[in-house]
Amino acid sequence: MKAKELRKKYIEFFTSKNHKEIKSAPLVPENDPTVLFTTAGMHPLISYLLGEKHPSGTKLVSAQKCVRTGDIEEVGDPVHLTFFEMLGNWSLGEYFKEDAIKYSFEFLTSPEYLNFSLDNLAVTVFAGDDDAPFDEEAYNIWRELGMPVSRIAKLGKKDNWWGPAGLTGPCGPDTEMFYWTGEGDAPKDYDPNNKLWVEIWNDVFMQYNKTEDGNFEPLAQKNVDTGMGLERVTAILQGKASCYDTELFIPLFEKLDEIRGVDTPKSRNDSERIIVEHLRTATFMMGDGIVPGNVDQAYVLRRLIRRAIREGKKLDISEIWTTKMAQVVIDEYSDVYKELSRNADKILEEFDVEEKQFQQTLEKGTREFEKLIEKVPAHIQKKVVSGKKAFYLYETYGFPLELTIEMAQEKGFEVDIKGYEKAYKKHQELSRKGAEKKFKGGLADNSKATSALHTATHILHQALREVLGDHVAQKGSNITAERLRFDFSHPEKMTPEQKAEVTKIVNDKIAENLVVTCEEMSVEEAKNQGAIGLFGDKYDEVVKVYSIGDFSKEICGGPHSENTGELISFKIKKEESSSRGVRRIKGLIGLK
Ligand code: ALA
Repeated sequence: MKAKELRKKYIEFFTSKNHKEIKSAPLVPENDPTVLFTTAGMHPLISYLLGEKHPSGTKLVSAQKCVRTGDIEEVGDPVHLTFFEMLGNWSLGEYFKEDAIKYSFEFLTSPEYLNFSLDNLAVTVFAGDDDAPFDEEAYNIWRELGMPVSRIAKLGKKDNWWGPAGLTGPCGPDTEMFYWTGEGDAPKDYDPNNKLWVEIWNDVFMQYNKTEDGNFEPLAQKNVDTGMGLERVTAILQGKASCYDTELFIPLFEKLDEIRGVDTPKSRNDSERIIVEHLRTATFMMGDGIVPGNVDQAYVLRRLIRRAIREGKKLDISEIWTTKMAQVVIDEYSDVYKELSRNADKILEEFDVEEKQFQQTLEKGTREFEKLIEKVPAHIQKKVVSGKKAFYLYETYGFPLELTIEMAQEKGFEVDIKGYEKAYKKHQELSRKGAEKKFKGGLADNSKATSALHTATHILHQALREVLGDHVAQKGSNITAERLRFDFSHPEKMTPEQKAEVTKIVNDKIAENLVVTCEEMSVEEAKNQGAIGLFGDKYDEVVKVYSIGDFSKEICGGPHSENTGELISFKIKKEESSSRGVRRIKGLIGLK
């Protein structure tokens, strides 16, 4: 079975069980300050898992684009990916453990769907601890469905608990399903340490909310959140050891062979895998409007592209080539992810600019390296490039250690690898601390301050359009209880007069005590009414539209203030560049 069919069957199965299909949210979470990327299908649904009403109902199904960068250094081996699609189904306070497990079992084993034999399946359930009891209910449901005792492991929080996605939020015990991928019959007993048992699906029973003080409070609404990795299951369905051996990557490898002018090799190496993996992720990121840059998502994107280009150098590619790879991703995926074809020109242009720019950086780095070498007096016997210098070349010019070693060897130098690793560790420690800081603040915070900042953001968006023009469109929004941050398309720095004018408009609207209302309507209707915001591709999809008096009308999930009178003032704290063609405003409000 091909990935396309798996995706389709999954959606069909759950729509036949009265679930409503929702489209994948963008890779950059809207209004979630705690993470850079959407990491799971539940991510765009957090406020609904906490009780807010979803416009599509209480039973949902989706294929969600996800990015996880925790394993970025591992990419290249046959299993790690930075981008993947997660198939998932949700119950928002509707069905719970029994139906969730029964649906999973039916989809996996029914001849109409995946037709997996029960003989090749095993499951795990939550064993219980001080926070929550053993999940006896899940255990018994699996037993009823015929799962032998020897194939049901009871494990602790580390294995059988999922969430919250940030530091706080919905979470709960889960039951995970595994498929035997080894040769011959599966062993009688399931062994969690045997990697040939591959996890294929996770049903999470979200019945707790983890609070800031670390307590697990029962949620008023019991939810189901599930996730199945599309790439992994596609490989299993095709009897392949790795998802790189499936049609999800083969066209990309073939394009790479063509660029290099080589025949299809017998097996693929790490460089080839890194290239196809990273460029697939990068193309999807750009499809969602991320542009290479030096902070946050933009920086991750830049790292992915540059790493792919460096690996390309190892394969002796010298031409401008990343656009050709991006085109393959666009061709392969646009039927499902229309944003790729819609933004194709922009994606290709950004790849081109970034690749040329990086080329220059590499040249500068090479000159820097040569200067560094020249400084070493000729009479010194043991010629060494210090670890600090090697790290500087990596950090500033993107030179991987191997490249520095290679170039050093050509000149009769050694590289202090231990010193390099020390410098690298120190840097990692610093970025980890930075990341921890980013994680401060709760997920899906519905406080008064946060709601007011959402409302202020809508007014700001409209005010920017009035002052700068209709080309202003939201490129990202990130709100904590302390401040708003709004990224928007605009080619140049705002003048002091423009900033003053925008500030005045926002404050005038606040003073007008405008009522904030919310209506549900189809995307088509929202467009007809002139609403702005991020539109989906499906015109019949129901969305929430927030209006602020008759000043602003915008598609948004909320939450919002009820009246602009809840705010007293707005000011722009900073206006700066976020990435090419995108400006960023940080703003503060005063509250009554
Ligand atoms: N949210 C769950 C996961 O990512 C389903 O595994």
